[in-house]
Amino acid sequence: MGITGQDGSYLAELLLAKGYEVHGIVRRVALEDPTRRLGRIAHLLDRVSLHAASLESFPSVYRVFRSVLPDECYHLAAQSFVSYSFDDEFSTLNTNINGTHFILAALKDVAPQCHFYFAGSSEMFGNAEQVPQTEATRFHPRSAYGISKVAGFELTRNYREAYGAHASSGILFNHESQRRGFEFVTRKITVGLSQILAGKSKELRLGNLDAKRDWGHARDYVEAMWHMLQQEEPDDYVVATGETHSVREFAERAFHLAGLDPNRYIVSAPELYRPAEVHLLVGDSSKARAKFGWKAKTSFQDLVLEMVAADCASEGVEFPIGAVSGTR
Ligand code: NAP
Ligand code: GDD
Repeated sequence: MGITGQDGSYLAELLLAKGYEVHGIVRRVALEDPTRRLGRIAHLLDRVSLHAASLESFPSVYRVFRSVLPDECYHLAAQSFVSYSFDDEFSTLNTNINGTHFILAALKDVAPQCHFYFAGSSEMFGNAEQVPQTEATRFHPRSAYGISKVAGFELTRNYREAYGAHASSGILFNHESQRRGFEFVTRKITVGLSQILAGKSKELRLGNLDAKRDWGHARDYVEAMWHMLQQEEPDDYVVATGETHSVREFAERAFHLAGLDPNRYIVSAPELYRPAEVHLLVGDSSKARAKFGWKAKTSFQDLVLEMVAADCASEGVEFPIGAVSGTR
């Protein structure tokens, strides 16, 4: 579930490459408007089966699981934009918590042997007491989004303990790509930069430039999800690069790649600050490394380069740097 999103698209590619039969759950409206809503998986549509269901409806989810009887289920669907969760706490909590509960309950009934992955988040750590954050760090979420992920994490743990479900949570730190949604800061920066280069805009308005995140590449992170479901025992894992950078550093790196002075274009806009900020995230993924040999492959520098190059190409603007690794 969540196959139309950034992670869902990379995970579907990974599973197809491994020979899986891939079923994706999408909203009904997506099937009616594939050009706009299925863009990230347009290149996979002849190789995946799509089913309509919604996180808001238990019967819709139940029906799909009863007909597909999955061996593995990756639950990636969520209202995933932290900032929006301040505007509408209620729908974020309803969708994310109930949606996760519906999936767990449906699987328990129709496919109890199914291995289940829950997309937990470093936002669960929020105002973390410990740096870097590990699986043992106490949660202190700072938004309705973070709270919804803590609830999903606890539901997943409880299904594991109470009903013996093979249910694991990945505590994933921020991961980006050229498929990242436009509302997230990294993509906002790389799209904004490409529009400045194309002469379509003169400035880029951002919020808190001092927030620090542990940014990796989504393509690397879906591999960790898959590994979790191949383990004999279900468990929870932090997935992170172990490096942290500020929003300012991301923006400076992107603008410098294009030969522009960021100070001439970036405006820090107070209205874009969040009511409660998560100031510093950096993860320690030693457990994932020890259990299944996972580590991030893409450097921060390559991530920024790939995203800037892709958005410049979409805008049709010359980008001075040469060849870029990674494909869409
Ligand atoms: P994303 O691009 O925003 O994708 C979210 C997916 O959820 C989309 O497929 C979306 O479908 C689906 N969805 C949202 N509301 C739904 C609903 N009511 N019913 C059915 N489907 C619904 O997110 P992502 O970056 O791929 O992240 C995947 C998961 O990992 C999310 O749960 C996110 O919270 C979590 N996570 C992400 C990160 C990160 O840095 N990317 C880090 C930690 C955790 P539509 O296309 O129809 O909107
Ligand atoms: N979106 C956005 N837009 N963020 C901005 C802006 C802006 O204009 N200016 C500064 N920021 C700061 C935010 O205040 C935040 O501290 C940081 O940039 C990152 O914001 P996002 O890119 O929106 O991501 P996020 O860290 O809040 O959440 C993402 O990562 C989580 C994992 O830690 C999402 O993918 C979540 O779904 C995910 O769980």
